[in-house]
Amino acid sequence: MASAVTQEALGRAGGAAAVSIGGAEPFDVERIRQDFPILNQRVHGKPLVYLDNAATSQKPISVINAERDFYLHDCANIHRGVHELSERATRKYEDVRAKVQHLLNAREVHEIVFVRGTTEALNLVASGFGRKLLRPGDEVVITAMEHHSNIVPWQILRDEKGIVLRVAPINDAGELIWEEFERLLGPRTKLVSVAHVSNVLGTINPLKRIVAAAHARNIPVLVDGAQAAPHLRIDVQDLDCDFYTLSSHKLFGPTGVGVLYGKTSWLEALPPYQGGGDMIRAVSFEKTIYNVIPYKFEAGTPNIGATIGFGAAIDYVSALGLENIGGYEHDLLSYATRRLSQVNGLRIIGTAREKAAVISFVIAGIHPHDLGTVLDQEGVAIRTGHHCAEPLMNRFGVPATARASFAFYNTREEVDRLVGAVERAKELLG
Ligand SMILES: Cc1ncc(COP(=O)(O)O)c(C=O)c1O
Repeated sequence: MASAVTQEALGRAGGAAAVSIGGAEPFDVERIRQDFPILNQRVHGKPLVYLDNAATSQKPISVINAERDFYLHDCANIHRGVHELSERATRKYEDVRAKVQHLLNAREVHEIVFVRGTTEALNLVASGFGRKLLRPGDEVVITAMEHHSNIVPWQILRDEKGIVLRVAPINDAGELIWEEFERLLGPRTKLVSVAHVSNVLGTINPLKRIVAAAHARNIPVLVDGAQAAPHLRIDVQDLDCDFYTLSSHKLFGPTGVGVLYGKTSWLEALPPYQGGGDMIRAVSFEKTIYNVIPYKFEAGTPNIGATIGFGAAIDYVSALGLENIGGYEHDLLSYATRRLSQVNGLRIIGTAREKAAVISFVIAGIHPHDLGTVLDQEGVAIRTGHHCAEPLMNRFGVPATARASFAFYNTREEVDRLVGAVERAKELLG
């Protein structure tokens, strides 16, 4: 995964050292942390250790300022005004579309649809397929590691349209069982919909291989990229996926905005998702002519300020470099895995060979919720529960897990704090 962290940096114990990435600019975590004022606070009297980045990540000051500047100087509705403020707002909003195109290496800017988030993007595709392209008995293939957002929309279609949902199993490490997955691709399969990275296991799925196998059978692929976009460089042309989805708020941007990437031909083929302003070219009581893509899918006033903030987040991660981020996080993940593995009675759930910086774990005799509560008292914020992946919990025979998820502003020192807090919880609860 991504570029190599130097041996010197790997060997350095603890702390927020400036890590040199593959001989390029040093990855100066101390300096980066200054861009995230929220990290510099105490919780229950202890310095905050924020390890709930998979739920939502923190925002750099440039993102906060970009959204604030919009409301201070440019606030107007987009696409419909002839006045200066509306033109400025429209320009800034559309600039972000071009930034997303560049981030994902999409061929065309009109392949980028703004939505509220990954959930809405997945529902948009499910709804379009369900209303126009799927017949009773048609099959959709997902995997056992999906988030509820990539399960429930298909179950709604199963109930309403009689489609069949097939689930590719995973092994004990949390990796897709390739032969089983391939076996599910049949003549009735109309779509494969998979997570790029699991929010619970951290598993990075072999997306290029999945797309190639599906395309060999003329099956399109929809990707849930919510957990991949903050950690990996995404190239939709190289992946050749038909749809890709992500959320701004997991990518250091504001909540309330996300992206659906779709190949031109697919976006042209799908019907509109919602009806309303902006998605039309002409309306009479007899008939409506829809707008061109991507506007056909963007009914109503969007979250303009958040989208502009999202643009600043893209600028921020692009300046750091997603390869650099991946390399740094890879080091952090290895360190955290090593340290947590040394805790007696702790079992890591999700040990795939290809992983992003997410670690789920359980401790014998301690409920994850109690663990999370003690960790909170120690200033360490992790997530506990089923992580919107209940079928995955059942697969591993646990009701819930504790999950530490990392971002590029986390440090080895914070991993040490996590491990110390887990040891303390064991003393108190074990
Ligand atoms: C893998 C995955 N898919 C989808 C989602 C839903 O994202 P959102 O709530 O931003 O729509 C999440 C959120 O945690 C996720 O982790």
